[in-house]
Amino acid sequence: MKSALSTLFLGLAQLPIGESLDNGLGRTPLMGWSSWNVAQCNAASAKYALDTANKFVSLGLKDLGYQYINIDDCWSTKSRNASGKLVPDPSKWPDGIKPVADKIHSMGLKFGLYGDAGQMTCAGYPGSESHEASDVAQLVEWGVDFWKFDNCYTPCLDNPRPQTCSRPAGSTKTWYTPMRDAIVGAQKLRNIYFNLCNWGRDNVWTWGAQYGNSWRISEDNWGDFASVARIASIAAGIYQYSAPGGFNDLDMLYIGSPKLTTNEERLHFGLWAITKSPLVLGLDLDNISDTRLAIIRNKGIIDINQDPLGKAATTFRPPGAPAPVSGQVYPYWAGPLSDGVVIGLCAGTAAGTYTVNFTDVPGLGAGTYTWKEMYTGQTGNGTSVSFNIDLHDMRVIKVTKA
Ligand code: GAL
Repeated sequence: MKSALSTLFLGLAQLPIGESLDNGLGRTPLMGWSSWNVAQCNAASAKYALDTANKFVSLGLKDLGYQYINIDDCWSTKSRNASGKLVPDPSKWPDGIKPVADKIHSMGLKFGLYGDAGQMTCAGYPGSESHEASDVAQLVEWGVDFWKFDNCYTPCLDNPRPQTCSRPAGSTKTWYTPMRDAIVGAQKLRNIYFNLCNWGRDNVWTWGAQYGNSWRISEDNWGDFASVARIASIAAGIYQYSAPGGFNDLDMLYIGSPKLTTNEERLHFGLWAITKSPLVLGLDLDNISDTRLAIIRNKGIIDINQDPLGKAATTFRPPGAPAPVSGQVYPYWAGPLSDGVVIGLCAGTAAGTYTVNFTDVPGLGAGTYTWKEMYTGQTGNGTSVSFNIDLHDMRVIKVTKA
């Protein structure tokens, strides 16, 4: 029989101090949808969650691997209840959270929510600072599968604490520790995917895998081409930190943004996919155009993103090509796959003919290869590929040994 002391000791031994999160989730990049880019606070509702779940099924997105329905900021009321619990806003969640999560689970999908490491979320709803364990208990009770954790209203050298602190007091890592420990502590009851949203502070990619299943590497994607270029350029420099179980998160997709052309949407989706970012849709699926559907349903590109090897593509410099410029989309990208190599060609700054000799591509070398381009469906074999690419468009080429 176990003594009280050994029970206590076993309990303590399960505490995850300094250990890797290692919860078995996110072995390939997460695929899903989030309310934020759809209509910010207005989309944080049961109606959006359930409509999206239905669309995941009817549009064939579920079969392609899109699984998580994530509700971002503004789902709760502005204050906690008398017992210190977060309360779903009754105007957005008339039956509460649990029935919605249950329904989504019954459809074979998963349900996510959003919180914050500071006193308030970025939109001013209650944060989880000093409430970590009880908030996780609540998530477990509701059946939440994913938790995005932001860093607004956190300790700051400026007083009072601003929404976005430019002179943080301490490290985001410290602020994320109690929530990470609470999530690991509850793992046997419910295994929750943990998404860190500290905007790439404190080189999160160097410690993110000990804390979460993915970590935002930058400030927000604002839905314009400059954002896509800025974030992709950061991802190129930190590709080596992504691996099964923990991936760089380039932020939610903005396919559907009025600020992006179709070419730019293809490039956005293609670059997020080959750099192994989570693919989190951010548009209203009730009103999606066929062109956009074709992009987000591109099975060849999704398969590259979901390749079990889980290694991210980065830029490479063929002989004679200019060096990458920070904040711009570089033309030449490549990354390993379990059964070949993916090459990305981006007309990020100029339309033109982009040619690559396979011998110059990391992971390939001299020899003849078979290839397939995933947006046009073109196939071929030989020692090189060449495409005429319109401004801001992309070609995604899977290359295998002939
Ligand atoms: C930002 C975050 C966004 C979104 C927003 C909600 O800090 O980067 O992705 O979650 O907060 O207020």
